[in-house]
Amino acid sequence: MEHYHHEPSIRWTPAFKLGIPILDEHHRGIVSLINALDFAVRRDENAEFFVNTIFNLADYYAKLHFATEESLMKYAGYPDLENHKKEHADMVKESFALATQSIRVRNPYIYLKFLHEWWINHIRTCDLPYGPFVRQHTAQDSTVTYTETGKHLWMDSCFA
Ligand SMILES: [Fe+2]
Ligand SMILES: [Fe+2]
Repeated sequence: MEHYHHEPSIRWTPAFKLGIPILDEHHRGIVSLINALDFAVRRDENAEFFVNTIFNLADYYAKLHFATEESLMKYAGYPDLENHKKEHADMVKESFALATQSIRVRNPYIYLKFLHEWWINHIRTCDLPYGPFVRQHTAQDSTVTYTETGKHLWMDSCFA
């Protein structure tokens, strides 16, 4: 199998970690998808196809992740849950609008830039602050420490 050596647009670092394995895994998976899209459009491979594909994967993954994150916050009794849920809901709408626009005007960077900025900003400013609270209030719950695979999407190996 051919392996590509490509500088990822987002390099995963421990600074992104919440210390909640299932959510950290989701974030890392999303970052892999963003790096895959970045890789494809920089090579100018059928960008419309990749925007479509990554949109579908990222949309599915984001919804799964948001639902998991919100249920853990609810379970922990996190006080800022409603605002956080609104951020997630707005993102799903904006993501669809920008992916559509990207395809219409044939500029994949519109969608790529949105994904890149939204996720980096959201993880750093909205997700990291709830980490200690949720960890503290779910310490006895095994789902919090559960990880599905210990591995991530195939892209991780390509971009390592
Ligand atoms: Fe979030
Ligand atoms: Fe998150």
